[in-house]
Amino acid sequence: MPFALPAQAVTQAQQIADVMIKLAGGVHPGLRFTHTKGLVTTGTFTPAASAKTISRAAHLQGAAVPVIVRFSDGTGVPNIPDNNENASPHGMAIRFALPGGAFTDIVSNSHNGFFVGNGTDFLALLTAIAGTNEKSAHPSPIEQFLGTHPAALKVIIDSKAAAKSFQNLAFFGNNAFIFVDSAGGKHPGRYQIIPGAGVVKLDSATAAKKKPDYMFDALKAGLAKGPVKYTIYAQLANPGDPTNDGSIVWPADRKRVELGTLSLTKVVANSDSAQKTLAFNPIILTNGITLSDDPLPSLRSGVYALSVAHRH
Ligand code: HEM
Repeated sequence: MPFALPAQAVTQAQQIADVMIKLAGGVHPGLRFTHTKGLVTTGTFTPAASAKTISRAAHLQGAAVPVIVRFSDGTGVPNIPDNNENASPHGMAIRFALPGGAFTDIVSNSHNGFFVGNGTDFLALLTAIAGTNEKSAHPSPIEQFLGTHPAALKVIIDSKAAAKSFQNLAFFGNNAFIFVDSAGGKHPGRYQIIPGAGVVKLDSATAAKKKPDYMFDALKAGLAKGPVKYTIYAQLANPGDPTNDGSIVWPADRKRVELGTLSLTKVVANSDSAQKTLAFNPIILTNGITLSDDPLPSLRSGVYALSVAHRH
């Protein structure tokens, strides 16, 4: 069935897109509204035996599948230095090739818990950032927003610690999806993508000395030496855990089902043209994974589509 956003959401998607363009310093032809600086890599995903206990999705049954993975810095600033606090949360978008030529995506970032849980709050956050400058009276619009939205404040505080590399970052889907098993059983969950090399953050003195592209340079150097690996898990909700608010982190004791191993081996030959063509989207799902009552994936989809239309 074709998916259509309600009219109110279309308006909100457009309003969000407009503020994102403003925050990026205007239109950058051919580039994304946000997560603009990026690098495209390839490799394989090998499912774990446990994956098929929660989902009948084709890529979770046993055979390894090819993947395309784009790593990115936050914001719409095309040349943002990797150690800038606004480059964090960083992004990891994964496209799994499915048998028969179809594909399915995970679009994750490097913070466990998103800034906000719905589109109204996201628009308010972006508007508060755009409405604040060094001359703003205190409390400024962003100070007021963060004063009433502790989850967003936490993302901003955590983003001050720069990562050692993409290989040392964990990534989180934040939004909840429903994994559907072969008997039709439903398992609400969120993706967690944990680096084989472990999570490592830099102290501020070390981070300040880093070159603007140090994380992308380290990724290229790492891939040249051997596979870069991550384990993908689904963190499952306990009854009562909210699935409709990606800013509320579920407790760490929730059951995690290992979905499989991502093994990245190469940077694509022409990453800049590849990333222009690629259009990841959190609602490109497949039989065995469906939307939950989380409002963000559908809204995100609308804004991503505007960004894609805009760069072509
Ligand atoms: C209302 C909330 C959100 C909005 C409006 C939004 C909007 C966007 C837009 C417009 C793009 C550019 C897409 C393109 O041009 O291809 C983008 C990219 C991206 N977003 Fe979001 N986003 C939201 C939430 C999230 C969340 C919750 C995550 C992860 C947990 C996330 C991770 C990413 C990543 C990784 C990319 C880069 C994708 C790529 O590499 O092509 N976003 N977002």
